[in-house]
Amino acid sequence: MTVVLAIDQGTSGTKAMVVDGDDQVRGVVELPVRPDYLAGGGVEQDPAELLESVLESGRAAVAQAGVPIDCVTLANQGETVLAWDPATGRALSNAVVWQDRRSADICRNLSDSAELVAERTGLVLDPYFSAPKMRWIRDNHGTGGVVTTSDTWLLHQLTGEFVTDAATASRSLLTNLDSLAGDTDGGWDAELLTLFGLDGERLPRIVACDEVIGETTAFGRAIPVGGLVVDQQAALLAQSCLDPGEAKCTFGTGAFLLTNMGTSAARSTAGLASSVAWRVRGQTTYCLDGQVPTAASAVRWLQDLGLLGDAAELDRLAAHDAGGVLCVPALAGLSAPWWEPTATAALTGMTLSTSAGHVIKAVLDGIAAQVAELADCASRDLGRPLRSLRVDGGLTRSRVLLQTLADLLQIQVEVYPSAHATALGAAAFARTAYAPELALPEAIVSWAPSTSFSPQLPERTAAEFRARWRDAVDRAAISKE
Ligand code: G3P
Repeated sequence: MTVVLAIDQGTSGTKAMVVDGDDQVRGVVELPVRPDYLAGGGVEQDPAELLESVLESGRAAVAQAGVPIDCVTLANQGETVLAWDPATGRALSNAVVWQDRRSADICRNLSDSAELVAERTGLVLDPYFSAPKMRWIRDNHGTGGVVTTSDTWLLHQLTGEFVTDAATASRSLLTNLDSLAGDTDGGWDAELLTLFGLDGERLPRIVACDEVIGETTAFGRAIPVGGLVVDQQAALLAQSCLDPGEAKCTFGTGAFLLTNMGTSAARSTAGLASSVAWRVRGQTTYCLDGQVPTAASAVRWLQDLGLLGDAAELDRLAAHDAGGVLCVPALAGLSAPWWEPTATAALTGMTLSTSAGHVIKAVLDGIAAQVAELADCASRDLGRPLRSLRVDGGLTRSRVLLQTLADLLQIQVEVYPSAHATALGAAAFARTAYAPELALPEAIVSWAPSTSFSPQLPERTAAEFRARWRDAVDRAAISKE
């Protein structure tokens, strides 16, 4: 009965959770980490704060649980990168966060290779992914040390190893999606490294998501570390999206809709990204993903503007309808399927009678509308509509958001019963790493939806709203920074 310490190192916070072999959560500690939003689209984090939050939350969760830990795992932000010195472990740059758009020019200058990049990696040439930001760090912080995703640095601090996992590597724009399958381990793609001017870089070993990669004494006695994965993929597993066509959306700092695509590395023809969901038991499973770069970030922005005191007040303060106000919450550009990193947000349709409540509702409508677009893209790629959408994350506390989502999607929205899907998914991967005989479905912490939302809006009204909202997106995509 494996007891796991699962650490979810996210954009706005680090959560450490101890879950035992009976699926009981024995301890949870969450510490905030606040990114710095800089002029020109920069988003950075202090690596020391990230590391401190991992150590502190992990130690506190272990103390709370009061049981011996068998295995530690880390779910990571996916595309956040930094430079660091492998000899000392010292960070040589701030962490450049996945939301950072300062590498947009790097992508623009490589646009002649966009098709080759898309075909080979399954991704889009966009600042969201790791490689353009790695190049940006080299251009702005010099050539010392190594430049990697944040998981590699944190794992090096914990274990001394130099690794990343197949799912995180597949988010880099530096791997061939096809050769990341199974045991053939395509590793890093030489041509793509040259394209981004990253040839000659020392890059981590790519491991499977069910591997033990080393040991750490950071949380007490020496404990194996393994079961590594991207946070979104962890939530996909936690929500039991094991069969092709099963989809979930996690409402964190951003909102991320992932659809299991089975064992075929099919590229999206609808503007989504294709990447590795996980590599477990020698087999690679793929997923499609679409992103809303600012979900809780947009709510945080409402708070910063003083329109909202606390995210918990969303439903109380949101007006019944948006009073004609439309919001495209592109506060950090637009990702799938538009891929306009320098698009700006739009708030239109305001009059003297517009209230803060209207604006709050319009922001929630805008987030839901963006997710509905992503669901449509996934349906087009699948060749059939999604049957339902499973949701998790902090913003799922907003019934207004979830009802709006069900209305715009015109399908059932099922709510994950715990606020900790990502950590629980990471714990499932750790179980597969620690117990090699365990099949993936058996590793998942059992669950049933806490509640579900059915569409209440007539189909035609939903379609009309979405058409108006798409017009607003076209204007937001044109009005760039
Ligand atoms: O791609 C970035 C994403 O994985 C970050 O997730 O939970 O930190 O918003 P989160």
